[in-house]
Amino acid sequence: MSILVINGPNLNLLGTREPGIYGSTTLGDVEASVTKQGAEAGYTVDCFQSNHEGAIVDRIHLARTDGTRFVIINPGAYTHTSVAIRDAFAGTAVPFCEVHISNVHQREKFRHHSYLSDIAVGVMAGFGVQGYNLALEFVTARLNAEQQ
Ligand code: DQA
Repeated sequence: MSILVINGPNLNLLGTREPGIYGSTTLGDVEASVTKQGAEAGYTVDCFQSNHEGAIVDRIHLARTDGTRFVIINPGAYTHTSVAIRDAFAGTAVPFCEVHISNVHQREKFRHHSYLSDIAVGVMAGFGVQGYNLALEFVTARLNAEQQ
């Protein structure tokens, strides 16, 4: 049983990208942290990052049949533009939480709208990279409860 963590465009630059907004933790650090946390809770965590919308859509399709029970996604800028990623989640019915490192609601107006939030199980924004860990804590508790 696995949990898939997807990071969208430019999140490969975490650590050096606008550190005043996104901090100095790298994507490698984030992925190592969620992998360890998942393992401690008894789950495999698969991590995937892409700068390409279609590759993210393909990975969500794969999640339907590869044993993924839940997705945690930071869609980056695709949050605000991608009907295709929304349709991939709607079409596969794979449950997901949306994570944003920054508080998108404190930022430019174009970041206030998400094409995903209304079909997400939950949304995290503004908790820094800790948001991934908080979302994972929720997801493992929920999967544990479902198994009882
Ligand atoms: C982000 C917020 C988005 O608006 C932005 O395009 C990103 C990162 C965040 O994690 O705060 O790439 O999703």
